[in-house]
Amino acid sequence: MESLDDAGVYKISDDLAIIQTIDFFTPIVDNPYDFGQIAVANALSDVYAMGGKPLTALNVACFPTKKLDISILQDILKGGIDKMMEAGVILVGGHSIDDAELKYGLSVTGVVHPGKMITNAGALVADKLILTKRLGTGILSTALKAGKVDKDLVAVMTKSMATLNKIASELMQQVGVNACTDVTGFGFLGHASQMAESSHVAMKVNSDSIPVFAEVAEFAQKGLCPGGLHRNREFYGKKIEFSEQVPEYMRDILFDPQTSGGLLISVAAEKAEMLLSKLKKAGISEVAIVGEIISQPAGKIIVK
Ligand code: CO
Ligand code: CO
Ligand code: CO
Repeated sequence: MESLDDAGVYKISDDLAIIQTIDFFTPIVDNPYDFGQIAVANALSDVYAMGGKPLTALNVACFPTKKLDISILQDILKGGIDKMMEAGVILVGGHSIDDAELKYGLSVTGVVHPGKMITNAGALVADKLILTKRLGTGILSTALKAGKVDKDLVAVMTKSMATLNKIASELMQQVGVNACTDVTGFGFLGHASQMAESSHVAMKVNSDSIPVFAEVAEFAQKGLCPGGLHRNREFYGKKIEFSEQVPEYMRDILFDPQTSGGLLISVAAEKAEMLLSKLKKAGISEVAIVGEIISQPAGKIIVK
């Protein structure tokens, strides 16, 4: 917990540790089946970020039985189970309660070899930083609630959020990397800042190379930003040095809380291109090298 890592890890023996994590939230898309898929991809992501293999899961569901038809919950759970099947995760139970607001997610148990665990604390000076998914899901879901996002863009963001970080995780383990975390509620810069702090290094981020969903810049300029974005900016802002030319909307995007975001990977420079091309070949087309690790000032992030 000290390094604010993605999940809890408990060593059982010299070659086996369990990884435990829980994540659940309110719907961010209208389609119940899609929401179930996204919630599961999001909950499993912390295990993938640590280089682990998720094995079993428990459903966590809060449902307003007086307000909504029970078939909606059934569709959410179906989306969730289908995504768990894809991940090779077995649903072993769960718990649901009547609640004023709908929420769904999972408690997940995975395994990892204690010596092969990937934390956010291992980034080394001169490493390259790789990001595997586009940013902007928080801004897009805010714009979606305001009725401003067209069908095609909803489909694109839904597909990204429902995509498991499984393949990205397997490929980074194959290549061998120094640190990893997944980009979720604290936004790109929040999670990057945790990595820098835990690893006792600094980072240089090139904002032009950050992959972003279409129309996010426009929505951000119109102020369609979730509350969490402002909280992230306030909390992590003092650890970030922006150069003047980074526009205000880009700063917002870099702090945008993500749902089921990509992996942020710190990998030795000589392996970075190889990992990048393996990820692209596996269909992770939006992946990009977005920065590098530097030594000073420790814990700080310089954004150009
Ligand atoms: Co995480
Ligand atoms: Co989490
Ligand atoms: Co019970």
